[in-house]
Amino acid sequence: MSDTPDIRKGLVGVYADVSAVSKVMPETNSLTYRGYPVQDLCENASFDETAYLLWHGELPTAGQLTAFRTQEKANRALSPTLLRVLAEFPKSAHPMDALRTAVSFMGMEDPEAADISDAAQRRKAMRLLAKIPTAVAATNRISKGLAPIAPDQGLPFCENFFHMVFGKVPAPEVIKAFDVSMILYAEHTFNASTYTARLVTSSMSDMHSAITAAIGSLKGPLHGGANEAVMHMLKEIPSPDVAEAWLRERFDHKALVMGFGHRVYKTGDSRVPTMKKYAEVMARVVGDERWMKTSAVLAQVMLTEKNIHPNLDFPAGPAYYLMGFDIPMFTPIFVCSRITGWAAHVLEQGADNRLIRPLSHYTGVTERAVVPLASRG
Ligand code: SDX
Repeated sequence: MSDTPDIRKGLVGVYADVSAVSKVMPETNSLTYRGYPVQDLCENASFDETAYLLWHGELPTAGQLTAFRTQEKANRALSPTLLRVLAEFPKSAHPMDALRTAVSFMGMEDPEAADISDAAQRRKAMRLLAKIPTAVAATNRISKGLAPIAPDQGLPFCENFFHMVFGKVPAPEVIKAFDVSMILYAEHTFNASTYTARLVTSSMSDMHSAITAAIGSLKGPLHGGANEAVMHMLKEIPSPDVAEAWLRERFDHKALVMGFGHRVYKTGDSRVPTMKKYAEVMARVVGDERWMKTSAVLAQVMLTEKNIHPNLDFPAGPAYYLMGFDIPMFTPIFVCSRITGWAAHVLEQGADNRLIRPLSHYTGVTERAVVPLASRG
């Protein structure tokens, strides 16, 4: 019998723990947050209601939502020290590196940083939910030589983000499309960045350390960085009518097509139809159908030729581009949403913790004796 254990590289197909936060059902191509289908939340709830749901397990009452929103608004501002630190970042810094550093700095400022009790972790999660968008908007403006715009406590979550980035609030259809994208990006079981946050939490480390690590994981183009890569790819294609030829040329080079494929969904990402619908709304609002027409050609060819379906990043990229965001902001915007899912998993891991420490099967050199330096030639 072989002494090689059952190695699952990439942990493909491995159930590492239980979780009550969300459920991905590839067989029916669906996703629920605390039992609610995401499509239902997109049509009948808001992103901050969804954040409350992920953290508390239930949708808020009107009174609970008012209190939640009051707390979020009150925590949006960054400290003067952090604003000075942001201004010192290299102008060439990638916005995900800037955000990773900003969150790490928030940890150094947070009076409850070392307290990993559930109550303290929840308060820190709220501070991160409120401050991360402010940091994303500020670093974007500073990188362009513009002064940051302070958060406006009189505005709801999504409207305030546009206010801090652009200095104005767009039409309600744009806000709705953004709110839907935030709900869809919020949570997705044990994806790489979420599991990173759980792994850090498993050693009894703190919320800011877990979220800083998760940001590092999400940055990668195989994960959250794909939404930026999708837009760069679409912009490489001169027009929809040459999209098929452009794609076939990539097939010849066995290159990955960003925004396609998924480790869990093999017959399509449950979130894509909803995000595609709102990306099409954005195309109509802006009057620019190019990106969605090119996307349709790519999706059709990938399906017929490779049987590979688009994932959420594929429609999210053009949607954010049509909203007017700079491409390097796309993955930081993903963080503004996923902080809710990450924090829910940090709380869950902390409540029933076991140090995460897998095994490795050794395939290196067989055991040997050390030869003293004098004899090593
Ligand atoms: C996210 O896990 C989550 O839930 C993540 C996420 C979330 O909400 O947190 O959904 C967000 O990260 C979405 C994924 C974004 N990444 C990309 O769009 C990057 C491109 N996609 C691929 O890198 C890939 O599809 C992955 C990484 C997403 C999944 O990788 P797997 O599971 O290891 O891929 P696989 O084993 O199923 O691939 C099977 C075959 C392979 O070919 P062979 O080696 O068998 O010949 O399909 C090929 C792959 O090369 N393939 C692709 C492809 N995706 C898979 N070929 C070309 N382009 C692609 N995009």
